[in-house]
Amino acid sequence: MKIAIVGTGYVGLPTGVGLAEFGNDVVCVDKIAAKIEALKNGQLTIYEDGLEELFQKVVKAGKLHFTTSMKEAVSGADVVMLAVGTPPHPVTKEADLQYIYAAAQEVAQYLDGYTVIATKSTVPVGTGDEVEAIIKRTNPSADYDVISLPEFLREGFAVHDFFAPDRIVIGANSERARKVMLELYKPFEGKTKFLLVGRKSSETIKYASNAFLAMKIHYINEMADFCEAAGANISEVACGMGLDSRIGNKFLNPGPGYGGSCFPKDTNAMAQMAKKFGVHLHLIETTIAYNDERKVGMAKRVLSAVNDNPDAKIAVLGLAFKGGTDDCRESPAMDILRELIKCSHNVCVYDPKAMNNAHQLVGDSVSYAADAYEAAKGADILVILTEWEEFRHLDLPKLKEIMKKPQVVDLRNMLCADEMCKNGFDYCCIGLKH
Ligand code: UGA
Repeated sequence: MKIAIVGTGYVGLPTGVGLAEFGNDVVCVDKIAAKIEALKNGQLTIYEDGLEELFQKVVKAGKLHFTTSMKEAVSGADVVMLAVGTPPHPVTKEADLQYIYAAAQEVAQYLDGYTVIATKSTVPVGTGDEVEAIIKRTNPSADYDVISLPEFLREGFAVHDFFAPDRIVIGANSERARKVMLELYKPFEGKTKFLLVGRKSSETIKYASNAFLAMKIHYINEMADFCEAAGANISEVACGMGLDSRIGNKFLNPGPGYGGSCFPKDTNAMAQMAKKFGVHLHLIETTIAYNDERKVGMAKRVLSAVNDNPDAKIAVLGLAFKGGTDDCRESPAMDILRELIKCSHNVCVYDPKAMNNAHQLVGDSVSYAADAYEAAKGADILVILTEWEEFRHLDLPKLKEIMKKPQVVDLRNMLCADEMCKNGFDYCCIGLKH
């Protein structure tokens, strides 16, 4: 099949590479000429575990192409996937749909032959109706269906999640469109669950899933607060809860709060959308408020460990919103870092992949280290904010020797409390009495 993908971000690019690997002819289109130029030259514009190799393979096989021309991408396409951003509106926090609507209008001009327009971006319920109307207005003779095809890829695991999804949800109101999509996703037949539902249900599934996962994180973070106060151990508690298959053992890792380009945006959008329908989503609203407070609370925890001394050197390990990605958007690490900078003028940071993105956000208000040890050298405290695997294997005797004070605040529970104690560290993690 010929597939056009509009938007070459963290969703569009891995999806394009995956569909090309299945033998489809994929064209990715983006308005940003510099991005397309880099991709044409064989340079990936995002970091995503395992994507590079596959990207080079499908490009070499002639299955994946890049263009800035919507006409070139859409002409003759069987399926057009919309994977553009739906960022939160700065004031209302609703999803900003201008990019989706602009893309729909442009796509409409070049449709020829029956085409399925699949919305991959996370969009409020009813957006499919509007996209359909825009296309009809722009090109009344076009033969098309608009469907919702929600994306469940996690950043950092996008390649894995593309090839081994928990489910494929197809929200289509037409049988013809469903048939095309089942044909496209045939390689997954017998390997994953397909859910064929109406378009509005599909749009809702995406928000309901992300909001539920955010609430699950909120819940385990609250339990961690409880454990700290009550003298229980959150790791043991999460393990005991997770053994119940109704609860499941995933997304029970306490941390500094959830972040990234999805959960904060989607929980806010869901809450706002519900208000428009006259529904109050109490659980989601509480989750949003607590998550914001939590990051400030975590920064206070670090600062009080150095007695709010502005001269104390704070070494920060991890800046990305989670391990495995260079993405710093809505990163709890960056929010905590901003709080630390307000008080301390001696913060040194290190992240294996996100240094450039972090620099764009906080500039030279911090110093940047080449590795964890350079950051820790002479530090009064070391703080772990992102769960990069390499932080699990720090050389503890070496760390103790180079730090001014052997003090570690581990907001991702990466290190073993007993081991830290044995090595002479003052160690504070989450959900364990300090
Ligand atoms: C999330 C969803 O997991 C994907 O299914 C979805 O497709 C994607 O949003 C999206 O809407 O596009 P992602 O934002 O990449 O994926 O990241 P997650 O792995 O879900 O993590 C989100 C945040 O929750 C991170 O800050 C992470 O550190 C935090 N988290 C996650 C925890 O604090 N504890 C956990 O147990 C799990």
